[in-house]
Amino acid sequence: MSSILVIRNADIVNATERLQADILCENGVIREIGRNLAAPDGAEIIDASGKLVFPGFIDPHVHIYLPFMGTFSKDDWESGSKAALMGGTTTLIEMCCPGRGDDPMDAIRLWKSNAAGISSCDYSFHMGVTRFDEETGHALRAIVEDEGIGSFKVFLAYKGAFGIDDTELYRTLSLAAELGVVVTAHCENAELVAETQKKLLAEGKTGPEWHEPSRPVSVEAEGCHHLVTFAGLTGAEIYVVHTSNQNAVDILDAARRSGIKVSIETVAPYLVFDNTYAEKPNFEGAKYVMSPPIRPKEHQDYLWKALAEGLIDTVATDHAPFDFQTQKHMGHPDPDKCVDANFQPTGKAGNFTLIPNGIPSVEERVKLLYTHGVATGRIDLHTFVRAAGTRAAEIFGLYPKKGVIAVGSDADIVIWDPEWSGEISVRTHSMATDYSAFEGWPVKGRPETVTVRGKVMVRDGVWCGSAGWGEFLARKPGA
Ligand code: URP
Ligand code: ZN
Ligand code: ZN
Repeated sequence: MSSILVIRNADIVNATERLQADILCENGVIREIGRNLAAPDGAEIIDASGKLVFPGFIDPHVHIYLPFMGTFSKDDWESGSKAALMGGTTTLIEMCCPGRGDDPMDAIRLWKSNAAGISSCDYSFHMGVTRFDEETGHALRAIVEDEGIGSFKVFLAYKGAFGIDDTELYRTLSLAAELGVVVTAHCENAELVAETQKKLLAEGKTGPEWHEPSRPVSVEAEGCHHLVTFAGLTGAEIYVVHTSNQNAVDILDAARRSGIKVSIETVAPYLVFDNTYAEKPNFEGAKYVMSPPIRPKEHQDYLWKALAEGLIDTVATDHAPFDFQTQKHMGHPDPDKCVDANFQPTGKAGNFTLIPNGIPSVEERVKLLYTHGVATGRIDLHTFVRAAGTRAAEIFGLYPKKGVIAVGSDADIVIWDPEWSGEISVRTHSMATDYSAFEGWPVKGRPETVTVRGKVMVRDGVWCGSAGWGEFLARKPGA
């Protein structure tokens, strides 16, 4: 028996158009869009009068249960996908990040198995290339051809962990260019970070407020310049993740204008925090440690402007959640408060280089972008839809299945109440962390109803979804 959902009186906002219509979804796909559509017997009807209706949003940069800095990021696929949906995100693209010694094929299969049958939203992966040799090259070809992976991820940072050297970078980009695979990249010069960290620690600068000075704007800008140089020589298409500042955006934009295929991502934390958050007393600053770091206010203002002007393609999260009371305390400078990876007291002083990097935000991204972007007039509704979903679908080969409300697209729909106002709190969030970086912040607007392939997962702002509904989205390079 077919399942039919009709959304009546929808004020549909896509990235490039706005129209008033009913939407008829059958068996998970949008079948008809039009005025006064007839609803067959047994159809579920939702009246969207007074609301905005968006295509399900896409977060193209998350980490779920990431092994990182001696611990694992907090959300698994059950909590992470539920949190995503509660926030209006219906598709996640996660970074598969094997260790340098791990077999890439084993890694992608492990990452897929962590999500299969558990995720409630749809999902895909970028394949992390954390080593490149002949064997890895063969494995990567098979991963693209047989495993439905259409993008890679490289780290110029994290020396000794996920980071690769320049020869590996060149070979990865060359292979990507040959296969038509987009390469997503974390751009910070690893050597400069390592040397600056050593210098600051030698000067006794150990608290979370020194994280930003250890990886200044210039270090990220150098990473971006480095990557575009390699992209120019190899012809690879690149996507720079979590771009935090004006210098980096300008370098990437100039590269784009010179003909290099570059897309630019920023992430929600950079749009709402500035570096003073990492200076909060009593180690509270650790909650705001991520890499690249949160920048001074003028960069935040520039990112909004670049977003409004279309220089920035996407707003993701880089969701990498770590508990404050335990995991973040692995870098506490007070010997009485610092803990090891088993969260036992070390009795030794920690420092900012040991604080697991990341800010939980998968649930709040869309609300923050609406509240601080649309409601303040910094961006219009179409830019919002484009940056929070449509562009990611286009860049990563999911469009028009995802990222648009159109006949034939998946029925991933967000009915948004623009009049709702409320507050963010750890007490009500669905993420697994013991804190919210946005505690007590007011928000304007929320996803009232959220569907994934026609199934209602959130109704009246309340979870009604089921774990395991999510499907793996196989992607083809160059799609
Ligand atoms: O601070 C961050 N960004 N943590 C997650 C790992 C990464 O660099 O994406
Ligand atoms: Zn990164
Ligand atoms: Zn990341």
